[in-house]
Amino acid sequence: MARIIAGVASSHVPAIGAAIDNHRTEEPYWQRVFSGFEESKEWMAKVKPDVVIGVYNDHASAFSVEIVPTFALGCAAEFPPADEGWGPRPVPVVKGHPQLAAHIAQSVILDEFDLTIVNKMEVDHGLTVPMNLMFGSPKEWPCPVIPLAVNVVLYPPPTGHRCFALGRAIRKAVESYPEDLRVVIFGTGGMSHQISGPRAGLINSKFDKAFLDNLTKDPAKLMRMPHVEYMREAGAEGVEMVMWLVMRGALDDKIDEVYRFYTVPASNTAVGHIILENRPKGARRAGAAKRLAPPKAKAKAPARRAAARAKVDRVRT
Ligand SMILES: [Fe+2]
Repeated sequence: MARIIAGVASSHVPAIGAAIDNHRTEEPYWQRVFSGFEESKEWMAKVKPDVVIGVYNDHASAFSVEIVPTFALGCAAEFPPADEGWGPRPVPVVKGHPQLAAHIAQSVILDEFDLTIVNKMEVDHGLTVPMNLMFGSPKEWPCPVIPLAVNVVLYPPPTGHRCFALGRAIRKAVESYPEDLRVVIFGTGGMSHQISGPRAGLINSKFDKAFLDNLTKDPAKLMRMPHVEYMREAGAEGVEMVMWLVMRGALDDKIDEVYRFYTVPASNTAVGHIILENRPKGARRAGAAKRLAPPKAKAKAPARRAAARAKVDRVRT
């Protein structure tokens, strides 16, 4: 039986992708951001999932504003990087898992979620930037990835409650797949940011940190949050965070938060990142005391220098 073993949430700031593509990751400004994902890459290299389900949003790259599906599942064998205005990102083609994707589509649609099935699609920074952050920059991505595009660009996006319920349906679908696969699900986007208008540049760290806390401890509270609250507190584009609830819904109620990172800014966006693991059946809560420990001091000198200029919170648990 396939099973979802962990969830990863991460911002997908396009400027992070540009920093990677233009070899600027060692600059102090960007080192502060990338240093927060070093342990995440180590975690991912140890976990070695067989498949990733990547919940992200398309930024009018694959879908024009003429057709905007609420939930679109990538069932193709591969997904090339999209040209977002500067040519396609120099990242590998994302290889899908058509068999598992078709199974998820069937299970979820028969569970009355009206997914759009997509058999040809390019993927933009919304998916490829978190993949870089978790996998680095390999010649080929180390495992198949099933993209799930969620509309958060044209009103109305789905509610947090609906996203969480879709996550539950995805978990049920995965667990009814006969092959023994270990699956990690990504929720991407956020955190607080607003790209345009009088409040452009808005960042609300208090809201972001509470969101991270509740993602682990009280996702039901987040499920009830209306869109207007995301927009008021986290900026117009902060509503991307509803996608994190698909990831959380796909996990068990009892999970262990094993890593968290938060920094501002990256471009004009707050960067948030969390790794949640399903607790093995029958296991006691692991590392609870550590999880309550205050953030550890930053380790690397370049990051330490940069952190003096910008706020960084990192928690290893
Ligand atoms: Fe985005």
